[in-house]
Amino acid sequence: MPEKISENHLIDDHHEKEYKTTRHRIEFSDSRSLSTIKNESIDLVVTSPPYPMIEMWDSLFASLNQEIGEALESNDGSRAFELMNQELDKVWGELARVVKKNGFVCINIGDATRKIGEQFQLYSNHSRITTAFIALGFQPLPIALWKKVTNSPNKFMGSGMLPAGAYITLEHEYILVFRNGGKREFNTDDKKNIRSQSAFFWEERNRWFSDSWDLKGVKQSTDSENVRQRSAAFTFELPYRLINMYSVKGDTILDPFLGTGTTTFAAIASERNSIGIEFDNNFYSILVDGLKYLREYANNTVTKRLEDHIAFCEEYQKEKSPMKYQNKCFGFPVMTKQETDLDLKHVSAINFSDLQNITVEYQPILTIQQSLFL
Ligand SMILES: C[S@@+](CC[C@H](N)C(=O)[O-])C[C@H]1O[C@@H](n2cnc3c(N)ncnc32)[C@H](O)[C@@H]1O
Repeated sequence: MPEKISENHLIDDHHEKEYKTTRHRIEFSDSRSLSTIKNESIDLVVTSPPYPMIEMWDSLFASLNQEIGEALESNDGSRAFELMNQELDKVWGELARVVKKNGFVCINIGDATRKIGEQFQLYSNHSRITTAFIALGFQPLPIALWKKVTNSPNKFMGSGMLPAGAYITLEHEYILVFRNGGKREFNTDDKKNIRSQSAFFWEERNRWFSDSWDLKGVKQSTDSENVRQRSAAFTFELPYRLINMYSVKGDTILDPFLGTGTTTFAAIASERNSIGIEFDNNFYSILVDGLKYLREYANNTVTKRLEDHIAFCEEYQKEKSPMKYQNKCFGFPVMTKQETDLDLKHVSAINFSDLQNITVEYQPILTIQQSLFL
């Protein structure tokens, strides 16, 4: 049975030691005001806003401020770009309030190229957003480039094979990373233990902390195809990786532009709590369906990480030397002492009567242990 949660219960009250159950809340509201979220209660934000100056989001931005529509109609691209970003600034300002000291914000954003009137130009969303976060007191950290493959034959714009009027194609999006102050401290035994259990594998570190990410998109086909096509969902691997890189189990993750719920789903798979905000309630049934089928997907993701690690160990030990350390939970070898307490769990139940009160229970991964190592 789902645990009874009072209306006023806030996820941030959840004690770190109790992370074997996580709590999740999805709200349909406007994230320009995050009034239901306490000051300094969020450990990590993972999000992707609507992209200023990408046409699919014009009407959404115009609905937030009618001057945006007027600027576009009068071919004033620079003004439209600035006004759209000013709407996002309101959300960034709220993040400065709710993110804990030493917490992180990770933003997936693409730049835009566009011809407005006779003027073709780049609208650099990633630099405008970086400037906004620096002004709010966040420190910018090294970023990753997410390569989005486009196979379209007419991806090149401009004067074809003739100089000097052709334009470089945008093939990357950005993963911006900001920290609210200095390094996070893990200065009690409880905090140290949770951090050790939240470790990732050495070979994952080598891939995840590269600045070039080559993630495949997930095929999206459901009955609600139209809503999904408008959703610009990011691939599950993206928030899953960021959550594992920048938070520990039991932390609270926020996505103020939730869309189809990918960040919530990745938080569930990673044993973190979460809050998701989305103002378009057409996403309701996608979110409910997603939660219904998430358990198997989340568990397959976690099992695959273990299987990939085992394959890596076999290869490494065959070609190089035996690995020095052993993981305490699974018994397999690991490269470093930091990975010896690494623990991963499967989701055993996802309980919800409504999207405001989702509780998730976890269980040890016995099948991997029994079949491969015991
Ligand atoms: C790029 S999409 C996010 C997609 C999401 N990462 C996913 O995987 O499905 C941006 C989302 O933000 C929502 N949105 C835009 N402005 C908003 C606002 N002020 N408050 C809440 N949601 C907003 C849009 O409806 C859209 O679903």
